[in-house]
Amino acid sequence: MSHPIIDFADVYFTYPDGKKAINGITFHVRHGESVGIVGANGAGKTSLLMLMTGLLLPIRGEVHVGGVPVAKKTLSVIRQKIGFTFQDPDDQLFMGTVYDDIAFGPRNYGVGEEEVKNRVMKAMEAVGVMHIKDRAPYKLSGGEKRGAAIAAILSMEPDILAMDEPTAALDPKARRKLIHLLKGFPYTKIIATHDLDMVLELCERTIVLKEGRIVCDGLSFQILSDAQLLEQWGLEKPLSLQRCPICGTKKE
Ligand SMILES: Nc1ncnc2c1ncn2[C@@H]1O[C@H](COP(=O)(O)OP(=O)(O)OP(=O)(O)O)[C@@H](O)[C@H]1O
Ligand SMILES: [Mg+2]
Repeated sequence: MSHPIIDFADVYFTYPDGKKAINGITFHVRHGESVGIVGANGAGKTSLLMLMTGLLLPIRGEVHVGGVPVAKKTLSVIRQKIGFTFQDPDDQLFMGTVYDDIAFGPRNYGVGEEEVKNRVMKAMEAVGVMHIKDRAPYKLSGGEKRGAAIAAILSMEPDILAMDEPTAALDPKARRKLIHLLKGFPYTKIIATHDLDMVLELCERTIVLKEGRIVCDGLSFQILSDAQLLEQWGLEKPLSLQRCPICGTKKE
């Protein structure tokens, strides 16, 4: 069995204003796993991803990514291993053009300009954002920004993708395209989301958070089929597992 690629050991985090967001979390993720992180608003999903990427550091406990402890002095190594897309793409895009935003990561890590260009082109092609490469990110629509933000982490060629609400602001066709794209990726994927249908389709495993604690960790299909449990956690069955309100049949 391979070593875990992500390892949380009894992690706690409190924001400076005293809000306890993560209250003793332990879990491991193995290479190549796809894990959905779900939970009601304020459950701690974003905080958890930020602890994984070193944007926040635990007040107690330890986080390891690819065997490296997440700490101030390892941040540069951690950021190469794990690509993170923010819940709000405006937090991620800050350059003058989409091209430069996607090139920023590899340039920052000293990749030569020829290789940077190859990576940017490959990432834009994969996500389908070639047509907006010369546009200013702040002038894009929500879905276009989301695409640019995803391409910006792919250009880093990370081992792990950590995504916060990747389907938010996407139209149905763009959402479908993103799910298809992510399905094809060999990376380890950690996806925090309210899009439970996407979790069902993309992630074999689901971790449910409530008030900064893991209340369930198991097979997505089992967890997401249990209406009673889901209700306790402030969630609902994915639409694809609900019966049609008119004819009572389930979606195939
Ligand atoms: N910067 C902050 N300062 C203080 N408290 C915060 C801050 N950011 C988040 N919190 C609090 O920490 C808790 C966890 O928030 P978090 O953003 O991790 O939840 P979430 O599960 O991602 O929610 P959502 O589904 O709304 O995105 C919430 O109670 C929230 O109010
Ligand atoms: Mg969030």
